[in-house]
Amino acid sequence: MAQITAQSLHTAIYVLREELAGAVAAVATQADAEAFRITFLSRNGKVASLFEAMKSLPGPDKPVFGKKLNELKHYAEGIFAEAAARVESAAAAAPSQVDLTLPGRTLPAGSLHPVTQTLNEIKSIFVAMGFDIANGPEIEDDYHNFEALNFHPNHPARDMQDTFFVSKDVLLRTHTSPVQIRTMKKQQPPIRTIMPGRVYRNEAISARSYCTFHQVEGLFVDKHVSFSELKGTLVAFAKQFYGNDIKYKFRPSYFPFTEPSLEMDISCFLCKGKGCRICKQSGWLEVLGAGMVHPNVFRNVGIDPEEFTGYAFGMGVDRTALLRHGINDIRLLFENDVRFLRQF
Ligand code: DAH
Repeated sequence: MAQITAQSLHTAIYVLREELAGAVAAVATQADAEAFRITFLSRNGKVASLFEAMKSLPGPDKPVFGKKLNELKHYAEGIFAEAAARVESAAAAAPSQVDLTLPGRTLPAGSLHPVTQTLNEIKSIFVAMGFDIANGPEIEDDYHNFEALNFHPNHPARDMQDTFFVSKDVLLRTHTSPVQIRTMKKQQPPIRTIMPGRVYRNEAISARSYCTFHQVEGLFVDKHVSFSELKGTLVAFAKQFYGNDIKYKFRPSYFPFTEPSLEMDISCFLCKGKGCRICKQSGWLEVLGAGMVHPNVFRNVGIDPEEFTGYAFGMGVDRTALLRHGINDIRLLFENDVRFLRQF
């Protein structure tokens, strides 16, 4: 508005007033109100630009137009304040956007791994019977894993086919029995301890066997611990864990670190002993090995076998977890695929 005259400024005021009236009617939201303020009332807005234009009018016209422009400005401010108040109270009165009838959003909840759940159950049964819990290292030496457990130096279990060796004397434990040795070296009888943990074997991987799995070892050493006490404990455990109505049987067996040794079978809890694919039609499942601690083992850890006797047992965990959940491939337990793990 370089060539401003009194006439053109008069027209511009009229036009802007019309524009203000139209624009304020269209203000519907708080954002519209802010846009209105910026367009018309800010420092570079349309009202301010007419004040600016007025400066180039001839001197005597200025007071006249100064007054007109002040009126325009008051008008603009007034309608803006009204519009701002209107949209603000409309926003406050607007119905809530929260639909209380919608179902809540479920939080993804984690769950324990099926092996952990099974382990926890086994632990709680033995803890209730008075057993402590001990742990040992997964990387062991030949002494604890074999030698102290009375394995002959040429025992086939030391073979490279079964054992993952780290070096000549260091290996991944092939069973939880070395924790027996560590426990008896640390502690004098009475000892009543279970030792859960992960073990490793260099076996062909298939749906039925994997290079790592879990065992729970048990050890009870005191004066006069008897073989019948061992059997009674195992039966009490099996009934609590597998069900009161299972049948069981003990078979004579051999382990270097126990004498006499036994294995326990229970009637297949899937087919109730009738015979199915899981129990290979036999109706029975092998669940654990056990026996009376061999006197050589006691000597190796400095416990007098004339004074003390003890029993030990060891059971696999993973296969039980598979059977209980109807999982048909052990590899699923170790792949940590969340689509699998989510189901437990
Ligand atoms: N360590 C044996 C295994 O890995 C299981 C076992 C059998 C443990 C008899 C024992 C036992 O403590 O007395 O197959």
